Amino acid sequence: MKNTILITGGTGFIGSHTAVELMQSGWRVIVLDNLCNSEPDVIERIAAIGASRPHFVAGDVRDAALLDQLFASHTITAVMHFAGLKSVGESWQQAAHYLDNNVGGTACLVAAMERAGVRRLVFSSSATVYGEPDTVPIAESAPLRTTNPYGRSKLLCEDMLRQLQAADPRWQVALLRYFNPVGAHASALIGEKPTGVPNNLMPYITQVAAGAHPYLRVFGNDYPTIDGTGVRDYIHVVDLAQGHLAALHYLLEEGRGITANLGTGSGVSVLQLVAAFTQATGVTIPLQILERRPGDVASCFAATEQAWEALRWRAQLSLQAMCADAWRWECSRAAAGASHG
Ligand code: NAD
Ligand code: UFG
Repeated sequence: MKNTILITGGTGFIGSHTAVELMQSGWRVIVLDNLCNSEPDVIERIAAIGASRPHFVAGDVRDAALLDQLFASHTITAVMHFAGLKSVGESWQQAAHYLDNNVGGTACLVAAMERAGVRRLVFSSSATVYGEPDTVPIAESAPLRTTNPYGRSKLLCEDMLRQLQAADPRWQVALLRYFNPVGAHASALIGEKPTGVPNNLMPYITQVAAGAHPYLRVFGNDYPTIDGTGVRDYIHVVDLAQGHLAALHYLLEEGRGITANLGTGSGVSVLQLVAAFTQATGVTIPLQILERRPGDVASCFAATEQAWEALRWRAQLSLQAMCADAWRWECSRAAAGASHG
């Protein structure tokens, strides 16, 4: 039996999929989550997919005493830190809360890890740290800048973690910059649970397909892109989860940190995603073209060489699989009587 990984935010969308992949590779998993954006039944669902049940601790990453107790009672090989707030719009309304939760939470976690002598960390960063990119595909060496408080909170965490490694080489941190995670586990037991009306494209499409909204609002068709609509790098959440295992192996084998984009490297427009969804599911999505959404960039997709050369990881799952799995998850939620708020 391998050792134990502590996953903060492990009942959330990406953390839960990563827990499954880790446990299926033989790792023991402890999930720490304060359930501010997830449900405790996710633990049973992870257990239903994976080989065993993760150990669940309901609590906050800002609770130093709880973290000390966790590190004292388990031998933890590394921490994967997903716990954070992620809504760009909400971050404008609650800027102090985003700083406290995302930056304060990371600082509290890192301090506890230092006290415990656990210095391997995989951190959930975002392509948002590239702001409006000068060129695409975006390499890890591109300038870092942000356009909203959420993005700033991620960049502040990255800065803190870079500083930590520079000051003490015993720290090994993987800064993973996710592009646009979508899809769900093929079992349809876990997936994304947006609260209220989703801001993101894929959950909005699946809700239109399920009849919760009459049409998809396409935010702008006058961008300098293939068909005028915004281009993004959609990546299946299971591929993303496997990227975390690759990063963990890198830390263990190389003994030093890494910064890597996790994306497919392919840019897909809004209309292309809608067409792929219809092809994968047979469901037609009515559209309405609206003005551009403030703050949106035309095109954002990853350079993937670094992830391949350093981590030997690349995304495998197709756009079809992303759409089919997102739709299967939406249908299973509807069958379970989930409300679309
Ligand atoms: P999510 O909201 O589904 O999961 C985050 C989990 O963290 C939730 O279960 C929530 O309850 C928990 N949490 C939040 N604050 C906490 C705290 N202080 N203590 C303990 N638990 C706490 O989000 P996700 O999509 O799984 O994202 C995971 C991470 O990846 C986040 O840090 C997010 O910023 C980052 N990220 C997400 C995306 C995306 O599009 N989903 C893109 C780039 C980066
Ligand atoms: N879009 C629509 N209609 C919708 C929703 C989105 O046309 O109802 C368009 C957007 O204008 C954009 C594309 O679909 O062109 C993707 O939008 P998303 O909101 O799904 O994703 P973003 O790339 O805008 O943002 C995501 C995360 C942010 C993160 C950013 C960069 O939501 O938190 O990726 O990583 F900062």
